[in-house]
Amino acid sequence: MTEKSYGGNTGINSGKAVIKPKLDVSSFNKDKKIIKKEKTQSGNKDKEKALEVGKIASQVKAYAKTIIKKNIPLLEIAEKIENKIIELGGKPAFPVNLSINDIAAHYTPSYNDFNLANGLLKIDLGVHIDGIIADTAFSIDLENNQENKKLIEAAEKALEAGIKKAKLNILVSEIGKEIQKTIESFNFTPIINLSGHGIDSYDLHSGINIPNIGDNQKNELSEGLFAIEPFATLSSGTGKVYDGRPSEIYSLLNPGKGVRNQTAREILEFIAEEYQTLPFCSRWLVKKFGTRALIGLRELEQANVLHRFPELIESSHSKVSQAEHTILVEKNKIIVTTE
Ligand code: CO
Repeated sequence: MTEKSYGGNTGINSGKAVIKPKLDVSSFNKDKKIIKKEKTQSGNKDKEKALEVGKIASQVKAYAKTIIKKNIPLLEIAEKIENKIIELGGKPAFPVNLSINDIAAHYTPSYNDFNLANGLLKIDLGVHIDGIIADTAFSIDLENNQENKKLIEAAEKALEAGIKKAKLNILVSEIGKEIQKTIESFNFTPIINLSGHGIDSYDLHSGINIPNIGDNQKNELSEGLFAIEPFATLSSGTGKVYDGRPSEIYSLLNPGKGVRNQTAREILEFIAEEYQTLPFCSRWLVKKFGTRALIGLRELEQANVLHRFPELIESSHSKVSQAEHTILVEKNKIIVTTE
């Protein structure tokens, strides 16, 4: 799942700063002889989990490719994908995003959604075990359209090029530069205000962004998990997204804020326990509580307890492709966990 950069180069992430993910991967380093025992155990466990969720995400992606066909309800696709994640021993790290054409990201079906798969469809899915996350995405052309296929290829090649550049202490803008160069070599435009991101325990968008252009950010890759996710659009597009309609995706913002409504309180307790700070959707809550969940959700949103993600739409309504992998950055190598 992506991150919209609001501030660009003047945003809070500008300037020289290496923000280390809390996920402890420092003890993976075999060269270091003296490592605290507890730290080694927790570090190794985190790495094991990062690899395990990555493998599940990869298997689910392969499964998704077999079930997605034109005109299949998005609701059916989302539920099958999320059920598969659970069947394989993980939990969804966020609701499956199924975004069509000019919707770049953050569309997930409502509980009674009637939309059908069509056009240029982006499937963005996440898996977690105990808060350790894998985040991966791919695009499918459902109208046998050459332009769609090219857009998809551009995003995939850009992802490859970005991963190839990734290593410890590299400037994130160097990765962005490769992504931009690759997409532009197809005569397309990268979406410049969407980016990859650091991933921390129970935190899908931690620390630094990984831009999809060669900007002048001075952030570097540190050890830990990162998602690289290029988006490509037509050269006639503006290469920017805006906040569209409110999506069905939420996350917990201010858990401490009180609400009076009984249903809202019940739902809040469930969210804090089950999803913590990870994104979730109305569909999941309707499944658990019935449609009264929607009233509770509205109350929580109005009280600013929840953040509701907007759908992200390409500004000139140009269609968008996406590809994404999660990488684990170690001292001497990187591992693509979702490959
Ligand atoms: Co992501």
